[in-house]
Amino acid sequence: MNDEKKPGERKKLTASAVRKMKKAGEKIAALTAYDFPTARLADEAGADLILVGDSLGMVVLGYDNTLRVTMADMLHHASAVTRARPAALVVGDMPFMSFQEGKHQAVRNAGRFVQEAGVDAVKLEGGKKHAETVERIVGASIPVMGHVGLTPQSILEFGGYRVQGKSPEDADRLMEDAKSLEEAGCFSVVLEGIPWRVAQKITQELTVPTIGIGAGPRCDGQVLVMHDVLGLYPRYAPKFVKRYAEAGEVIREAFARYVKEVKEGTFPTLDYSYGE
Ligand code: KIV
Repeated sequence: MNDEKKPGERKKLTASAVRKMKKAGEKIAALTAYDFPTARLADEAGADLILVGDSLGMVVLGYDNTLRVTMADMLHHASAVTRARPAALVVGDMPFMSFQEGKHQAVRNAGRFVQEAGVDAVKLEGGKKHAETVERIVGASIPVMGHVGLTPQSILEFGGYRVQGKSPEDADRLMEDAKSLEEAGCFSVVLEGIPWRVAQKITQELTVPTIGIGAGPRCDGQVLVMHDVLGLYPRYAPKFVKRYAEAGEVIREAFARYVKEVKEGTFPTLDYSYGE
């Protein structure tokens, strides 16, 4: 994927390199991206990992949740991301019902992510109950990232977006889930929407890196949804989101100037026109 890199450009990150970052005490910075230009920007900014998340259902496609996202949606967007040839590890998120039917379906769809979209790894939501599925995908030589806690594909079961692992029993269950994913061969595990002390404990017990989102500062890395970072998602901002830019404002203002200039006839001028 990276054979066109020029001298001085970053070396391609692999799943095993990401795994080693924990031992080296190096924090892992991850961002979501869903298309060619933003994948390039995230990569140029030095992100270690680009997740083509099924969050695209909400922030790009405008659904209320991620449950309607399909493999076709994911392959379409993951392909656009890998066309940017990022040095960052590209992880394709397995959407709802792309792996729940069983191990064969899961391996087939993980394989499609690699063969049709060119991703470097896949992610799937769920703990112990999907450990065997993870094992089978890893067995097909496809690196897998786990994901436990407030897993958005389980909102019907959870009754909404509720922080997980608050009671000691739930925290123990999360620990068990995370450990079973590590044992199944995951190279890292996303911890989403859980109390920071629970995330800290899981991080201490796992040998593979944890990537937090709404899981406090003691994880081995962090992931945020790009549209949240940039102020591009108008509907909802969870407590854990930090906005690093108000890109929505910048874009709206640029569009408004363009519309005004077209309406008043000041764009295009001859400077923007072809001669004979
Ligand atoms: O879909 C997504 O973007 C994710 C991250 C929020 C972890 O799963």
